[in-house]
Amino acid sequence: MTEVALPRHLLGIAGLDRAAIVELLSLAASFSEVAERPIPKVPALRGKTVATVFFEPSTRTRLSFESAARRLSADTMTFTAATSSVTKGESLRDTVETIEAMGVDALVVRHRAAGAPALVARWVTASVVNAGDGAHEHPTQALLDCYTILEALAPPGAELPGGGDCSGLSIGIVGDVAHSRVARSCALAFEALGAAVTLVGPRTLLPPSLEGWPVAVASDLDAVLGELDVVYLLRLQTERMRQARLPSLEEYRERFGLTEGRARRLRPGALVLHPGPMNRGVEIDASVASEHATLVTRQVRNGVPTRMAVLFRLLGGAR
Ligand code: CP
Repeated sequence: MTEVALPRHLLGIAGLDRAAIVELLSLAASFSEVAERPIPKVPALRGKTVATVFFEPSTRTRLSFESAARRLSADTMTFTAATSSVTKGESLRDTVETIEAMGVDALVVRHRAAGAPALVARWVTASVVNAGDGAHEHPTQALLDCYTILEALAPPGAELPGGGDCSGLSIGIVGDVAHSRVARSCALAFEALGAAVTLVGPRTLLPPSLEGWPVAVASDLDAVLGELDVVYLLRLQTERMRQARLPSLEEYRERFGLTEGRARRLRPGALVLHPGPMNRGVEIDASVASEHATLVTRQVRNGVPTRMAVLFRLLGGAR
């Protein structure tokens, strides 16, 4: 495998080119067998410490990073804002400098403010990984999604499923793009691997400007559904909506939900992804979420080797 220069931090897909993405996916593929071992660990990051520093709730991302770090034999530290001195008014800078002073090699940061991980990267000498910042980026989610799509479409046994090539694929990212950090990271990553990306949603749930987004836009899901190889559903982020963007959740489901009826009209072999957590009965019907073509559980499973690849590349491999 050719090694490509990666920066010291992973702050977004925007900082990566195709070669860097493919290299991370190849590493993820090589780490995926670690889970099958009787003792699912390798000594690659022994002696390193990874801190997860989360100012927003998370199930998948935090546990997945901690599992990835442990499988690489790194030590882990867990910080959650709700049970920390942030509740006494401690600043972001004082918080991360305090954590770093205890001796950490990487900080995995989630924050409600876009750009917070980039600020942290200026204050600390440790590597920083963006685990989701506001509506900006969630790069490891996009990487694990690329891996999951390639794995699902490729014949088994390939070193990197599909060779890392998504050209010819038509991917629809459906729903609440305006509040989604996943949408931006996925659009950039899918396009870098050669896919054609269409954002599908009501105008009120699209960002005011799509400058820099390598995408087409559609407002009628039914008009494009039959052309999509991958339907990537976004969570409606009602907690981030400062004003009403939708007449009702029922109307949203009616126009943009992957209902049973729409699932029947998908292309044969079309894949369905969702980053989670899902609003069953809103962006996806409960029965569709449990179907074989829906890759939600595979996405979660692939998060661990993908995050192993990121941590290894930042802390263990050549930069
Ligand atoms: N997809 C995702 O980021 O999920 P969590 O909020 O549970 O980490």
